[in-house]
Amino acid sequence: MARGPAEPQLFLVFGATGDLMQRKLLPSLYAVAAGLRGGPKSFRLLGCARQPLTDAAYRALCLRSLLAAKAAPRAAAKRWLDHSVSYHALGDGGPEEYAGLRAEVEALEKRTGLPGNRVYYLALPEDAIAPTVYGLGESGLHESLGWTRLVVEKPFGSDHASAVKLNRLIHRYFPEREVYRIDHYLGKETVQNLLVFRFANMLFESVWNRDRVDHVEITVAEDLGVEHRAGYYDRVGALRDMVQSHLLQLLTLTAMEVPSSLDAEQIRNEKVKVLRSLEPIRPEDVVLGQYAAGRIDNEPVPGYREEPGVDPRSRTETFVALALQVHSWRWHGTPFFLRTGKRLGGKVTQIVVRFREPPVWFFPERSTADIHANRLTITLQPDEGFTLSIELKKPGDEIALVTQRLHFQYAEAFGPLADAYQTLLSDILEGDQTLFVRADEVEEAWKVLNPVLSRKARPIPYPAGSWGPPAAAALLRRGGHHWTAP
Ligand code: BG6
Repeated sequence: MARGPAEPQLFLVFGATGDLMQRKLLPSLYAVAAGLRGGPKSFRLLGCARQPLTDAAYRALCLRSLLAAKAAPRAAAKRWLDHSVSYHALGDGGPEEYAGLRAEVEALEKRTGLPGNRVYYLALPEDAIAPTVYGLGESGLHESLGWTRLVVEKPFGSDHASAVKLNRLIHRYFPEREVYRIDHYLGKETVQNLLVFRFANMLFESVWNRDRVDHVEITVAEDLGVEHRAGYYDRVGALRDMVQSHLLQLLTLTAMEVPSSLDAEQIRNEKVKVLRSLEPIRPEDVVLGQYAAGRIDNEPVPGYREEPGVDPRSRTETFVALALQVHSWRWHGTPFFLRTGKRLGGKVTQIVVRFREPPVWFFPERSTADIHANRLTITLQPDEGFTLSIELKKPGDEIALVTQRLHFQYAEAFGPLADAYQTLLSDILEGDQTLFVRADEVEEAWKVLNPVLSRKARPIPYPAGSWGPPAAAALLRRGGHHWTAP
C-alpha cells in the first residue's frame, strides 16, 4: 500500500500461455508496466511455458489477449510487446531446461542493462507449483545480483499438510520477505478500504464488538456456474476455492484488532490472530450444497453434474455456508456467518454488520422481524460502497417509525475503481507485502477448514438461481435471524 518507485526489473511469468495470464494478468501488467517511468529500460517481461513458441508467436498471442480485454489500442499494445516482451520455452522443466532458462535470463539482463532484480510469477495449477519452485532453486535462479520475488497464485496447497510442505520447499530457496502469495480479493479497493473504514472512524470502531454487534454476515455470491474450469473446480470445490482464501480474508479484516501500525507485518499479525481464535467448526455449523438445474436471468441453465467436464456423480460442493465463532474478548458470542456459491441469485460480495436491538423498545411495534436493529452493509462488488440503515420518525402527528438508508457509492464519488490485479502487481513491482498472504496465515486458514475437509457431507442440491439450500437459512434462524437480501 505504501508506494515507492519500482526499480528496473525482469518479470518472469510461468504459465505464460495459460488462461490466468492471458485473460487477467496480462491486461493489468500492461496497465502497470506501461505507466512506469523508464519504459522498456525498466521493465521486461519474459513469458515461460512448456510449448515451443517464437517470440513473434508469443507476442501475437498476447496482442490478441490485450485487444480482447480492450486493454490498449493496437498500435500501443504492439509497441509495448515488441519492446518489452519475449518468450522462453521450458519444455518438460528438467534441470537442463532450467539451466537454459538461467543462461537466457542472464544474457537478457546483460543485453538490456537490467540489474538482476527479478520477479518469478507462478500463474500455474497447484500441482505445477512445487516442481517450478524446485527448478528455480536448484538451477540457482533464486539468487541474482539484485533482489528476487516469488509470486504464488491460489490455491496454496490443498489442505494444511500440503500448505506446510509447500511453504517448507519455498523457504528452502526464498525467504518469506521475498514471497508474495496472491489472494486477488486483497487487491480490491473496497477490501483495502475495510481497514480505513474501521480504523480511521471512531464512530464505527467504538461499536465494533460483542456489546453492540449481534452478528456478522459475509456473502460472496456468483451467478456464474463452473464455466470452462470443471477440470480444476471438480477437484477443488467451494471450500478450497473460495472459503479458505477470499472469505477467510474478509473475515480476518472484519474481525481483527487494531494493528500497532500500517506495517505489513503488524497487519498480518493481527489477521493471523483472528484465524487462531476461531473455534473448531462443528458439523452442525456447516452446510454444503451443489447446484441443480434452474434459471439465471430467466434462462434455463444445467445443473453442476451436467456441466461439461464434471463427473455426473460428483460430490463436489458449489455452495458453502458456515457459522463461525471468534473466541476473543471483542467477539465472544457474536457469530460470523459466511456463505459463498456458484449459480446463486446474483453476483454480490457484501459484509453485513447487524447491530443489537435497543434494550428497551417503547415505539409502536412493526411487523418485520428485525426492524429495530441498525445494519451496516459494506458492498465490495458490484456497486461498491456502503449503506447504513437507521430508524427515523415518519413525519406526521403520530409516532410512526420508518427505516431509511444512508448510502455511499464509490462510483458516484470517484468513478470506476482500479482492477485488483493492477493494485497487486504494482505492490509486487514496488516490494510491498501488505496485501499478500503470509506463510503462517495460509497455514492457519487451512487449519480452520481441516475438520470440515476431513468429514465432508454429501452436498444438498439447490436450484440454480436460488440462494442455496434451505439449511443455510436455518443456520441463522437458530438465533432468530435471516440472511440479509443483497
Ligand atoms: C477465484 C475463484 O479465486 O475467484 C473463482 O477461483 C471465482 O471460482 C473468483 O469465480 C471470483 O472472483 P471475483 O473477483 O469475480 O469475485
